[in-house]
Amino acid sequence: PGPREQETGRRGFAPVSPDSGDRVTVPEGFTHELLIGWGDAVLPGAPPFDFDRQSEAAQARQFGVNNDYCALVPLRAAGQWLMVSNHEYATEPLMFPDWNPEVPAEAHVRTTWMAYGLSVVLVEQRGDGGLRARVDGRWNRRITLLSPFEVRGPAAGSPLLRTSVDPAGTRVLGTMANCSGGITPWGTVLSGEENVHMPFAHADKVADPLVREGLRRYGFAEGPSLRGWEAHDTRFDLGREPHEAHRFGWIVELDPLEPDSVPVKHTALGRFKHEGANVSTAPDGRVVAYMGDDERFEYIYKFVSDGRVRPGDDPAARRHNKRLLDSGTLYVARFDGDDAAEEIDGSGRLPADGAFDGTGRWIPLAHNDRSFVPGMSAAEVYIFTRIAADRVGATPMDRPEDVQPHPVTRRVYASLTNNDQRGAPGLPAPDEANPRSGNRDGHVLELCERKDDPTAERFHWRLLLVCGDPESPGTYYAGIDKARVSAISSPDNLAFDEHGNLWIATDAGGRGGRNDGLYMVPLDGPERGQVQRFLTVPTGAECCGPVIGPDFVLVSVQHPGELPGASPQQPASHWPDGGSAQPRASIIVVRRKDGGPILGGDG
Ligand code: FEO
Ligand code: CA
Ligand code: CA
Ligand code: CA
Repeated sequence: PGPREQETGRRGFAPVSPDSGDRVTVPEGFTHELLIGWGDAVLPGAPPFDFDRQSEAAQARQFGVNNDYCALVPLRAAGQWLMVSNHEYATEPLMFPDWNPEVPAEAHVRTTWMAYGLSVVLVEQRGDGGLRARVDGRWNRRITLLSPFEVRGPAAGSPLLRTSVDPAGTRVLGTMANCSGGITPWGTVLSGEENVHMPFAHADKVADPLVREGLRRYGFAEGPSLRGWEAHDTRFDLGREPHEAHRFGWIVELDPLEPDSVPVKHTALGRFKHEGANVSTAPDGRVVAYMGDDERFEYIYKFVSDGRVRPGDDPAARRHNKRLLDSGTLYVARFDGDDAAEEIDGSGRLPADGAFDGTGRWIPLAHNDRSFVPGMSAAEVYIFTRIAADRVGATPMDRPEDVQPHPVTRRVYASLTNNDQRGAPGLPAPDEANPRSGNRDGHVLELCERKDDPTAERFHWRLLLVCGDPESPGTYYAGIDKARVSAISSPDNLAFDEHGNLWIATDAGGRGGRNDGLYMVPLDGPERGQVQRFLTVPTGAECCGPVIGPDFVLVSVQHPGELPGASPQQPASHWPDGGSAQPRASIIVVRRKDGGPILGGDG
């Protein structure tokens, strides 16, 4: 047994050191291998990946780019899962050796559309305990920017969602900017459409003042887009198709267990830059989806269903449960600190009562066709949710990423990744829930609903972590002796293991020469707050989509080599293929060399 095992009687791991190499590091006694990466075959007939000869037809059958969230949905057979991955975005200058930023070639743009979206891949456990991705004609799917989606919920069919190709406002081609997500209790996958403004052009050419105000609030470009898609499909030119913008920015639901099903865009969960959505089931059976809007000074939301979850996975129960997100109440969060405002000086120094904590309220925005926001119709609340939240006194947060309920305690954990503009002139000052000016390293908030009921309208909250160099006085690791923790910055994706520990993947952008990584932190007992670095990802990569199984960990390694000045001629990373290869975002599997459980047991 190692020192930690002697100390705790549990099997743990020795935290890895910070790393700046073009490699993955894992703790001693662990090993990692590639599961699947950009360009690998998903559908039968996919050609082998060829960076120098990409095509729309090839990419439509291959794993997409820059995978972020990853879900494993179990199949009935033991050791088989359907893995759903989000392909968040492309960086075309790194994707194509001959990308022309002035006039993007149609072939490049159309290949990019196929590289976006979602992949469904059959994954199975090998005899030696490792995992293998299968090319499979029955289960595997690629959802792209041209795949049809059904629009559901209270804003479906709104005039604000109608376009020239969809006069009913109920059917959208494609999903994009899919960042994080969650698995529902009924085995579907939710995925958040996040930075959907990026491919759209010419918001300045929109005449309708309401639509213009919305486009401004959501950051749509007034001139040409960075991606040039509008040259190849007029739906991305807002001057011609202003409502197309409203058809993205939703939570989408995909049912991997029904390969022929049409995925859904859920208007009842509001429209913003959705990081993801994670579902908790209330004692009375209603389901609650927690959600973050990832931009500086944006909000945390939740949706409470009207209907109750029906147990079982028979077709009738699944049909019922797949309608739960169509009807319910959308709320936004307000956080009130319990110390005087002048106690919060922006340095991260703890206030008088020794904790960043307080109470809060969920403020209702709309229930189906009823709006609770003066001057806005329900459809407007759902489509311009940010504007509705502005009007009701919600608390602007430091970039909400994953907002995730603990599967056992139902406490909710929110990653506030960072906000370099907190406290800047003219912008919101630090408050007890976002206590640092120029918040470079982010924090993690813990929220306890009243009576631990996810449907409650009141809650308590406290900060679990105020991230950054443990030696800095402006950091807080749940009050534990900071000599015992690994430094963490910019928390992003969250996951839980079977022992109830929180796992945090980071997106600090390689600041200080430290690669991003995955961290484990116990939430209860004397080790609460003891952050331990489990792995680090290669140069220029973000650590995403952790899945913590009993005897394996999956990690999405997103955008390796994405550094200023990098190009296909001078790649900043050759991971994972090595040699002179171009970098490829991929999923890795980490296991113990002896095949044992990642944590726990009696060692
Ligand atoms: Fe795509 Fe909020 O990270
Ligand atoms: Ca306090
Ligand atoms: Ca994220
Ligand atoms: Ca992030």
